[in-house]
Amino acid sequence: MAEKENLEVSEAQIAVHWQEEAYYYPSPQFIAQANMTDPSIYDRFSLENFPNCYKEYADLLDWYEYWHTTLDTSDAPCFKWFVGGKINASYNCVDRHLAKNRNKTAIHFVPELENEKVEHITYQELWVRVNEMAALLQDFCGLKAGDRVTLHLPMTAELPITMLACARLGVIHSQVFGGFSGKAAADRIVDSKSHVLITIDAYYRGGHLIDHKEKADVSVAEAKKDGQVVDKVLVWQRYPGKYSSPTPMVDGRDYFVNDLLKKYYGVRIDPVKMPAEAPLFLMYTSGTTGKPKGCQHGTGGYLAYVAGTSKYVQDIHPEDVYWCLADIGWITGHSYIVYGPLAICASTVIYEGIPNYPDPGRPWRIAQDLGVNIFHTAPTAIRALRKIGPDEPKKYEYHFKHMTTVGEPIEPEVWKWYHEVVGKGEAIIVDTWWQTETGGFLCSTLPAIKPMKPGSAGPGMPGIHPIIFDEDGKELPAGCGKAGNICIQNPWPGMFQTIWGDRDRFVKQYFERYCKDPKSKDWRDWPYLTGDAAVQAPDGYYRILGRIDDVINVSGHRLGTKELESAALTVTEVAESAVVPVADDIKGKVPDLYVSLKPGYSPSKELEDKIAKALVTEIGPIAKPRKVWIVPDMPKTRSGKIMRRVLGAISNKKDVGDVTTLANPEIVTAIQGMMK
Ligand code: WTA
Repeated sequence: MAEKENLEVSEAQIAVHWQEEAYYYPSPQFIAQANMTDPSIYDRFSLENFPNCYKEYADLLDWYEYWHTTLDTSDAPCFKWFVGGKINASYNCVDRHLAKNRNKTAIHFVPELENEKVEHITYQELWVRVNEMAALLQDFCGLKAGDRVTLHLPMTAELPITMLACARLGVIHSQVFGGFSGKAAADRIVDSKSHVLITIDAYYRGGHLIDHKEKADVSVAEAKKDGQVVDKVLVWQRYPGKYSSPTPMVDGRDYFVNDLLKKYYGVRIDPVKMPAEAPLFLMYTSGTTGKPKGCQHGTGGYLAYVAGTSKYVQDIHPEDVYWCLADIGWITGHSYIVYGPLAICASTVIYEGIPNYPDPGRPWRIAQDLGVNIFHTAPTAIRALRKIGPDEPKKYEYHFKHMTTVGEPIEPEVWKWYHEVVGKGEAIIVDTWWQTETGGFLCSTLPAIKPMKPGSAGPGMPGIHPIIFDEDGKELPAGCGKAGNICIQNPWPGMFQTIWGDRDRFVKQYFERYCKDPKSKDWRDWPYLTGDAAVQAPDGYYRILGRIDDVINVSGHRLGTKELESAALTVTEVAESAVVPVADDIKGKVPDLYVSLKPGYSPSKELEDKIAKALVTEIGPIAKPRKVWIVPDMPKTRSGKIMRRVLGAISNKKDVGDVTTLANPEIVTAIQGMMK
């Protein structure tokens, strides 16, 4: 297997060579205060008690009408949770906390510039602002339950306010990562058929005030080409009352939110009582084919799952200050900055900028100043901070009791630095493995119950029952230490409901491979294919090895190779393109882009730059290739398929394996020659 994987140049490469590490145990102090210390939770959430065990999570929420059916499988694999229930997510994240916690900080907003004031938004203020925004969306935009609206916002307090205002009305929000281009937002506007785009004039990143409004103009124009008319663009202001973008406002289309809001001061909007299974939001993610998929998440099930996992895995208490350094434009931010923490009345930190601005001590100063004691970030950020400021954490007086890592496999060496230096040897670490599609954690240790093991995510979460299949669909024996495709045997409340507007693709991509009977209405016949490779150790802990499909994980962001390749093909001169992941110390993986040119064109440095720029324009700066290689031809199979694994081996300076069966084996040596 290891041999084979070497040739495949899979994402698993770093991981495959890892040794099993020794356990680290939680401290007695941590255990003494933990929200979940009862190991019988694993029995309560066993397969025998499925699905009713999830009542425990649903009961963390307030329901207008209690549900009558825990799990409805009649439309399998589109599963419905807590059917019959009526609920509102905005009410659960805001209103219900007022009685006891009106004056508690809900959101600490930290601007990137250190000389700007940190905002501490209480639950009272959040409630007021969410109500007024909901009034605006309803009255001025005419939005109602079931409509979609696209948000293209950076890390600002206005983002969760807008999300919660949508949720209050039952409007389905689709937030596009702020760093994505106007064109990427346009694709998502078209797919979700949004008429309203909500954006901001500008925001700070790396010390620069970035013009964001200009992207909205691109989005509207591009969406129109595909037949989707955006009639209103709502523009928040980085400095309320002042316009900070050089891009002109378009009369009759663009509106300043802060101006419009004046009309709605003091207006309160009753939360709409939504069916539990009504969609709450769409989150687009890259897949194996070019078009991003709109993962549709429901209301009751999703909120129950993120509330439960925020309580038991993030272990948030009322007095804690919790900081997740992800972007709300990704699922981690939706679930574990906004919905999960706010549902359990936490204080959550939102930081506008990059972690190392103006210096690598910044995160630790923020932690010290705000009293952050629970910290959540990704290996890519940990690697970067370790590289540029290995001694910085020591200089600051903060104490974490709990830390999370998420988004990609973490190398044990990096884990240990995180533990010893960032956590000062005091904090427990949870390595949480999950996906946009899954809404919340799939594997993690329960922090007070299971010891940590560097490099391993841990066992399945309570109620999540993983299983590993080999290529032929045979189940690998539990704990056998062999790698295979990790699937989840059962549905769970946080799981996405479908791909927006494309049920067939949902079934095909996530279930078809291991489905026992496509007509079955029994959940047991529908294991969920995660698309990751994993091994299970004899202690039941899973180590995730990375994607089995062609998605590249750059700095914890999933980029579809197909999406990148199609961006390269927007350049006139390019005939063919192929993207392969290259291991990178900081980012985990970076894309190398291979292109061949149409006849009559010749390679040049200018052309390389032009192609790289196309990826940045089409997708965003995170898609910038490490290197654009203009090659005379692509290595191909006889049936004409580009052999990405061969290119991957070349880029990663690995053995290319047997290439004699290729249609053009000579090209391999030619490309290798170019790299010398
Ligand atoms: C990878 C992010 C190893 C995995 C929440 C998954 C991880 C993809 C981990 C989902 C982890 C996420 N250890 N790998 N703790 N967490 N992954 O949709 O390959 O942006 O399938 O969701 O990231 O990325 P997504």
